[in-house]
Amino acid sequence: MADNLFTQLHQEHQNFKMLFEQILEQKNVDAKVDLFNNLKKTLIPHMKSEEEVFYPELYNHGDTKEMSLEALEEHHVAETTLMELSKSDPFMENWRPKAKVLSEILNHHIEEEESEIFNAARDIIPQNRQNEIYTQYIQKKDEILKSM
Ligand SMILES: [Fe+2]
Repeated sequence: MADNLFTQLHQEHQNFKMLFEQILEQKNVDAKVDLFNNLKKTLIPHMKSEEEVFYPELYNHGDTKEMSLEALEEHHVAETTLMELSKSDPFMENWRPKAKVLSEILNHHIEEEESEIFNAARDIIPQNRQNEIYTQYIQKKDEILKSM
């Protein structure tokens, strides 16, 4: 476990990027599906927990409201695409292109989080509150994973 919320989120982002690279390179369909299921089991709890415990802090603050709404829309697009992939046949010719689009959406989202959003959050959320959010984030992620 990382020592703070932003390091934790960054480490998870790095893991998603790595999984996407492996998924897009993998030619064996069974191995690709295993990697994809791994991605789903980590990405869904990550996004939902961010939505529940992190983004409300930014939404409720005038300066970061718009930024948080944009990020939540990106989550929505990512989740919709992830569920489409989950339901579609990995042998179909559009499976990989769809996975590639999802990785591009997420790379864009991660870049915005790590360059703008986390910096803004560090400025407006006091350190003790950041620590609370970190604990809540980990708990929420576990709950969501168990309910999947
Ligand atoms: Fe996010």
